[in-house]
Amino acid sequence: MSLLAGKTGLIVGIANDRSYAWHIAKAMIEQGARCAFTHLPGEKNERRTRKAVEALGVADPWMVPLDAGNDAELDAVFSSYAERFDVMHFLVHSIAFADREWLQAGKFVETPRQAYLSAIDISAYTLLAMAQRAKAIMTRSGGGSIMAMSYYGAEKVVPGYNVMGVAKAALECTGRYLAAELGAHNIRVNLISGGYLRTLASSAVGGTDTMAERTAERAPLRRNVEGADVGKAAVFLASDLSSGMTGETLYVDCGVNLIGA
Ligand SMILES: NC(=O)c1ccc[n+]([C@@H]2O[C@H](COP(=O)([O-])OP(=O)(O)OC[C@H]3O[C@@H](n4cnc5c(N)ncnc54)[C@H](O)[C@@H]3O)[C@@H](O)[C@H]2O)c1
Repeated sequence: MSLLAGKTGLIVGIANDRSYAWHIAKAMIEQGARCAFTHLPGEKNERRTRKAVEALGVADPWMVPLDAGNDAELDAVFSSYAERFDVMHFLVHSIAFADREWLQAGKFVETPRQAYLSAIDISAYTLLAMAQRAKAIMTRSGGGSIMAMSYYGAEKVVPGYNVMGVAKAALECTGRYLAAELGAHNIRVNLISGGYLRTLASSAVGGTDTMAERTAERAPLRRNVEGADVGKAAVFLASDLSSGMTGETLYVDCGVNLIGA
């Protein structure tokens, strides 16, 4: 069964073949989706993302540069996507940034204004910025599914996650407000709260070296989440199987968020 046959969308956040966005793209392509991609500006970043996308079996990918902190680049990406594809059924937001200097246990109270604001800007505001630009094309497409990646640190204190936890709380709340406004256009907005996965972004958080081990001991499923687990959830959210669901945060973390102590 191809759950995403005939669906086309944009995936933002593949840095390499360990990125959550890469696993999401893989699962979506396996279910028949046509995916377009962005990469961080710069030759090295482009090469790295292109290599990962080619490993997905996409021979001639549509891939454009995007620094999501730049409105002009966001405008350019969404308008050139619309010229090329004409329809957008899904949009995957899988990006985050915070200066690693402030992602150390015990340093939250020292966070400078600029580090706080840039974490919120890149990790949370960009969901709104992308939804704003996707609204018209998704509406023309009969509706769509927007999804973004969050983490449990939005809800509970995870030492070292610090300002990124604040940004994820803002991201989840942004998703709910967008869901409420965009539902009238049959555009659904949901969050996936993924478990710990070793990636470039997660390695910037202090104290994660023992995270995998600690999580596997505590998780009800007695293992760490794999990229493929999140990929399957993303297929569900992009597909008609989740047609009645919006504004939700779906935990895909082997159940670790259930455990209090
Ligand atoms: N890895 C984990 O343990 C984990 C757990 C839960 C949620 N998440 C979330 O998953 C998402 C993807 O992270 P990942 O773990 O796959 O790491 P990753 O490093 O592979 O991906 C992060 C992506 O963010 C992009 N990015 C950063 N700043 C950007 C900017 N200004 N403009 C455009 N793109 C920018 C990077 O290019 C990269 O592709 C993030 O939102 C992250 O917080 C990760």
